[in-house]
Amino acid sequence: MSILLAPGPVPVLKEISNAQTKEMITHRSEEFSKLYEDLVSRLRKYVGAQEAYVLTGSGALGLETLILNLCQKDDVVLCLPNGEFGDHLVTTVNVYAKSIVHRGIDGNGWNLERAKDKIDSAAASPNNAKVLAIVYNETSMGVKNNIKEICKYAKSKGMLTIIDGISAWPGTEFNMQEFYVDAFVTGSQKGIAAPPGMALIGLSAEAVARFSKRDSVPSYYCDLRRHKKRYELDQQTPNTPAVTLFWALQKAFDVLDEKGGLPATVKRHHEASEYVRKRLASMGFGLIAEKGFESNTVTGFFTKDADTAKMIKSKLASEYKIKIVGSRGKFKDNGLRIAHMGNFDMKNIEACLDAIEKILKS
Ligand SMILES: Cc1ncc(COP(=O)(O)O)c(C=O)c1O
Repeated sequence: MSILLAPGPVPVLKEISNAQTKEMITHRSEEFSKLYEDLVSRLRKYVGAQEAYVLTGSGALGLETLILNLCQKDDVVLCLPNGEFGDHLVTTVNVYAKSIVHRGIDGNGWNLERAKDKIDSAAASPNNAKVLAIVYNETSMGVKNNIKEICKYAKSKGMLTIIDGISAWPGTEFNMQEFYVDAFVTGSQKGIAAPPGMALIGLSAEAVARFSKRDSVPSYYCDLRRHKKRYELDQQTPNTPAVTLFWALQKAFDVLDEKGGLPATVKRHHEASEYVRKRLASMGFGLIAEKGFESNTVTGFFTKDADTAKMIKSKLASEYKIKIVGSRGKFKDNGLRIAHMGNFDMKNIEACLDAIEKILKS
């Protein structure tokens, strides 16, 4: 057995993957309605959403769905990227609307102090930014942006707030209402630790009102008006969903409940992240995330050169069967990442750090 410590897909517990092996049902059945209603209501409760949907597709599909339903061609969207996934968010925004982009430095985080003047000028520009879009947990660097204070301020300027929470939830503190968030997405292969293939989205009342009143949106499959209409009719999805994955997600929610729900899950992730940083720092590695912006779910660190990073990664895989991944951007050559995301076992994380220590000494 190998140990997978990549930031998604994360290992899936047997009981979660086994949940997929039931006899198939039709998605036009009462049984499916019950399943989907359960998923939607638990998701709504967990993230504090007015409405929630589970889409068949990866996290990026969920993010694109939020953008295309909530932003129109002439809308200006303020984007604050600070890594690869923030850059992808900008690319997605540019397909459907116009962006104002302020690129943060790789490894550094966004907080209100840094974002305030960007929000002020975007709100005051002749185009008047109507939306703020930002990644909560920049997976490529292991950086957590302080979205709560940023979204609170953006909302005070009349903006709608869209959050890519794909690698943040449920290992990072979050509630849409408390965080002033109008639209949120996460991916099933990340912290909820189900198999890949589902995007979980949450919407505020304001976001729902915004897409509901549109005459058209530039998509058929991702048109949230269809999802809303079908859900209201019989708690089903407009097209055939990945039924087996939905069963797995239901079990993943059970596990989340059993593990004490959100506060316990956030604490478990936070403690793991502190442990990983401490061990890496004691081995002399540099940590990619700026102090105060460290991710709960993935830690990025850098080695003295690219060859050392390559050697560590390949020896971990070949000698210890432990899989970690490299970093991106500025740290793409000498950076590595260890994920502590989902239903991870601390023993595996310790084994990885012990192995790195041994590799360094060998
Ligand atoms: C922050 C973030 N956004 C977007 C994505 C894209 O998600 P997916 O690969 O599920 O489409 C990822 C995937 O790692 C991510 O970490």
